Amino acid sequence: MSDGRVILITGAGRGIGAAVARRLAAPGRLLALNYLSRRDSAQAVARDVEAKGGRGLLLPADVTSASAVEDMFAALAERAGRLDVLISNAGAPFRYGRLPECSPADFEAQWRVQAGAAFLCCRAAVPLLKKSPAGRIVFVVSNVAQGAPPAFMAHYVSAKYALWGLAQALKAELSGKGIRVDCVFPPMTRTDFIKNFPRPIVEAAREASPGGRLPAPEETAAEIARVVEAET
Ligand SMILES: NC(=O)c1ccc[n+]([C@@H]2O[C@H](COP(=O)([O-])OP(=O)(O)OC[C@H]3O[C@@H](n4cnc5c(N)ncnc54)[C@H](OP(=O)(O)O)[C@@H]3O)[C@@H](O)[C@H]2O)c1
Repeated sequence: MSDGRVILITGAGRGIGAAVARRLAAPGRLLALNYLSRRDSAQAVARDVEAKGGRGLLLPADVTSASAVEDMFAALAERAGRLDVLISNAGAPFRYGRLPECSPADFEAQWRVQAGAAFLCCRAAVPLLKKSPAGRIVFVVSNVAQGAPPAFMAHYVSAKYALWGLAQALKAELSGKGIRVDCVFPPMTRTDFIKNFPRPIVEAAREASPGGRLPAPEETAAEIARVVEAET
């Protein structure tokens, strides 16, 4: 669809975020691609966006840093002049384990990269989104925050619930301002994120998945893109 929208995706260099960028790319659209450190991978995503007629804008930034996030949105405002959709997706892998193995640093790291980063990005994005005719924020949560969560990932599960809570709070705050807030709850997906998960955990998720296979990032991205494209 050629609608001239500017869409910023955090963690767009690899995995689900990269697949969402490729899926949403269209002539006239600008995909702002945030990543942390893997520039080559993000550059490949930008090339694919441009091959589909869109524009790819690389925005390296650590989304857990308030100043880096502010600089990123200032660069976006300068180079794109607007923002229509923020997809808060960045996530960092975690060590799977029981409570005694989950250090305070592990716990804090998950809260910072999930709820903390989403808070910082929304705070910086809202002034731009308010100027859009159809501003949107989409939070990439996880199916671990739906129903009974899996055991041994208290840091990740609690951070995802915090992310969901932030989304509910912003929904209430922004509904009168023309900004729509949605959450998506992807299932376990075949990305680097699960590379170090214990094999039995991955196998159990695979067996519970439709067709006995874990979705590829492109399949999970299709659902996120459906939410982004949905009429307001
Ligand atoms: N994979 C799953 O099974 C699954 C299931 C449900 C939900 N999710 C959620 O989906 C999201 C994406 O997961 P994924 O599987 O695509 O992960 P992934 O393949 O590990 O990719 C993570 C992306 O986030 C970026 N990133 C990490 N820390 C960052 C930071 N501090 N600042 C900016 N960017 C940062 C990485 O940048 P670099 O490339 O530069 O390192 C990378 O582009 C996460 O929120 C995750 O919780 C994943």
